[in-house]
Amino acid sequence: MGLDETTQKPHDRLSSYLAGDMERVNGLIRTRMASEHAPRIPEVTAHLVEAGGKRLRPMLTLAAARMCGYGGDHHIRLAATVEFIHTATLLHDDVVDASAQRRGRPTANLLWDNKSSVLVGDYLFSRSFQLMVETGSLRVLDILSNASATIAEGEVLQLSAAQDLRTDEATYLKVVRGKTAALFSAATEVGGVIAGAAEDQVRALFTYGDALGIAFQIVDDLLDYGGSSATIGKNTGDDFRERKLTLPVIKAVAAASPEEMAFWRRVIEKGDQRDGDLDHAMQILNHHGSMTAARDEAIGWAVKAKSALSFLPAHELRDMLADLADFVVTRIR
Ligand code: IPE
Ligand code: IPE
Ligand code: MG
Ligand code: MG
Repeated sequence: MGLDETTQKPHDRLSSYLAGDMERVNGLIRTRMASEHAPRIPEVTAHLVEAGGKRLRPMLTLAAARMCGYGGDHHIRLAATVEFIHTATLLHDDVVDASAQRRGRPTANLLWDNKSSVLVGDYLFSRSFQLMVETGSLRVLDILSNASATIAEGEVLQLSAAQDLRTDEATYLKVVRGKTAALFSAATEVGGVIAGAAEDQVRALFTYGDALGIAFQIVDDLLDYGGSSATIGKNTGDDFRERKLTLPVIKAVAAASPEEMAFWRRVIEKGDQRDGDLDHAMQILNHHGSMTAARDEAIGWAVKAKSALSFLPAHELRDMLADLADFVVTRIR
């Protein structure tokens, strides 16, 4: 990837702009992910944290705080808090989804075991609470603890909706808003709150994060069918194997012929999956234009995210956040 301005992705521009802050966030993450008492903890966390990750959510917090003129250093703690919550949910999520690859590496549940992933995830959640308490802001605690509860609700709702062909787009939206967008919107919102931004700006930051998170997850779900595991660093086909009703599938089920309906019943409802079924599912999704239609919805959410930014002060970072919304719907990893 070139470093030239024009070829740099918005994500890279944001990280260059925020490099100083981000270095401090990474330092804090490294210090706080360790444990003197249980060596398994730093082993597991280092495996995941050192694999990188896009660091999107902490960048959102840093960008929001900076854009609103923040001059203190609590935004560093909040950015680390948000990445800790994210990392904890990834450890749990890979157990729940029985996933074998994350950030281009074998998952912790595969290298160690489910028990380690669940317990180290719990540890990271608790570490995130300790970090946010250090800001002394009850409002920030309120936002981030609500987000944590909402993420768990989204994951549980998804669990009950899986394998159920009656799942509709409204339920899907609830799931993604919960499991993914809640952390994006909390990340942007706390950035504004810690900076003491005006209420209409805090609301705009929330709306931006919410819409961006929804767009992000819709695309993540598309990549599970159309992406390449080499670039996304995760195995494709996990959602199909776990019989999840993601947006393209919901759209294809709504348009299914009797023959296609029998196929969806067998693979999603009954879980009787055979060689070639994933390819066949992809053919159906493309045949009905379900992938394109889902991408169009993601683009719609990205547009919504960008329009929320008009309530925020003109700033280089505001332009980067606008570009980030476009990046999220065109990303391949
Ligand atoms: C993965 O998020 C979980 C989802 C919400 C799809 P990211 O794609 O931001 O994960 P990393 O941190 O870059 O690995
Ligand atoms: C992402 O869920 C949301 C959370 C981790 C809470 P997914 O299961 O859709 O994400 P990936 O594809 O495993 O990253
Ligand atoms: Mg998963
Ligand atoms: Mg999941």
